[in-house]
Amino acid sequence: MKVNYTIIEIREKIKDWNKQGLSVGFVPTMGYLHTGHLSLIEAAKRENDKVVVSIFVNPTQFSPNEDLEKYPRNFEKDKLLCEQNGVDILFFPTEQEIYPNKNLINIDINKLDNNLCGRLRIGHFNGVCLIVLKLFNIIKPTNAYFGKKDFQQLQIIKNMVKDFNIDINIIGMPIIREKNGLALSSRNSYLSKEEFEDASIINKSLQKAKYSLENGETDIKKIISNIENSILQKLTAKIDYIEIVDTKNLQKVDKIDCEVLISVAVFIGKTRLIDNIVIQNNM
Ligand code: PAF
Repeated sequence: MKVNYTIIEIREKIKDWNKQGLSVGFVPTMGYLHTGHLSLIEAAKRENDKVVVSIFVNPTQFSPNEDLEKYPRNFEKDKLLCEQNGVDILFFPTEQEIYPNKNLINIDINKLDNNLCGRLRIGHFNGVCLIVLKLFNIIKPTNAYFGKKDFQQLQIIKNMVKDFNIDINIIGMPIIREKNGLALSSRNSYLSKEEFEDASIINKSLQKAKYSLENGETDIKKIISNIENSILQKLTAKIDYIEIVDTKNLQKVDKIDCEVLISVAVFIGKTRLIDNIVIQNNM
């Protein structure tokens, strides 16, 4: 495996692969890799001739009060994991390489970020789209892989690719969980042992909500308040949001007559965790 630090280097290699007609699978990450990332790499490996992983803790998607400085990093361990999992190129650019100047042009999400995380993390998805677009332009992959834990991110990227006529397939992969049901996230490393146990309530509450919906519950307010009450049994928990939205446009629904996403963001102690569940409507 090669580690590339510069855009020039990686472009050379990719041009070479393109000439040979090889397909490229791309997994963008902010590092501190876990089994969730490895499942994306595994899919990329299965479905493409070559695999590129990027590690870049992107400052433009963090607001000033967020955890950019303390975001977990362990390049040596990530490199080893990439090597062991058959990655061909690990792209590890510096901030100067990616953002040498302040951009004159930025991306502004039109809709799709007025709910869920976008409503509370102002500008977050503009920053995500900016970095993903830059990485797409550098790597020009055939297929790019994203986890469904960040469901809103996945939908926004799918829409960006469609709206900007970018010739890349966006592939969403299932959420990978701990044994206790907690969705894997690099931020889980912030949790104490007690918080880790408490955090399992998030998925349990979503599962219960799914069960009640599938068994005829139609009252959206009741479903949300049941999730809230269940999560708040844990003293370390504080709700950031609980929303039920249409999976297609991420707009809130007032009745369940389409495929819906129940999405939550919860603070466990000081750590903000997100999770979601999709409920198909067979009515
Ligand atoms: O999902 C993430 O880890 C990040 O938002 C991404 C897509 C790598 C962009 O920085």
